[in-house]
Amino acid sequence: AIERTLSIIKPDATKRNLTGKINAKFEDAGLRIIAQKRIQLTKDQAGEFYAVHKERPFYDELCEFMASAPVVAQVLEGEGAIAKNREVMGATNPADAEAGTIRAEFAESVGENSVHGSDAPDTAADEIAYFFSGLELVG
Ligand code: CMP
Repeated sequence: AIERTLSIIKPDATKRNLTGKINAKFEDAGLRIIAQKRIQLTKDQAGEFYAVHKERPFYDELCEFMASAPVVAQVLEGEGAIAKNREVMGATNPADAEAGTIRAEFAESVGENSVHGSDAPDTAADEIAYFFSGLELVG
């Protein structure tokens, strides 16, 4: 099925000018970028987005990091987009990520891992709605 998923290019990647290289990986895999914006999150906004991780030991560090520089929020569309995006990103920890994936090529650590992607259809819908209105999704 054609799906939509929420992707975030994280501060470690925007700081190193990797937005274009990361977008090329998505497009080469057949994902269409149907919405995209560069924004500076506050720590509170990052905390709200990652609320599901509130009890994790890395939550505070994660929120600080996500507010440390601009991010690029985007919606990717395509056949099986949620799984395809996760394939292109590679494992959360770059040490475990397959060669050629975004995290293998660009990520610096499990925390500063260059990209976020939704993990399931229900979270994708919630995460897309957190950043974008329906009018901003131009498929
Ligand atoms: P992401 O897919 O954005 O979802 C939650 C994020 O928490 C994850 O990517 C990692 O960047 C981050 N994370 C997961 N485990 C750790 C960890 N052990 N230390 C720091 N950050 C982590």
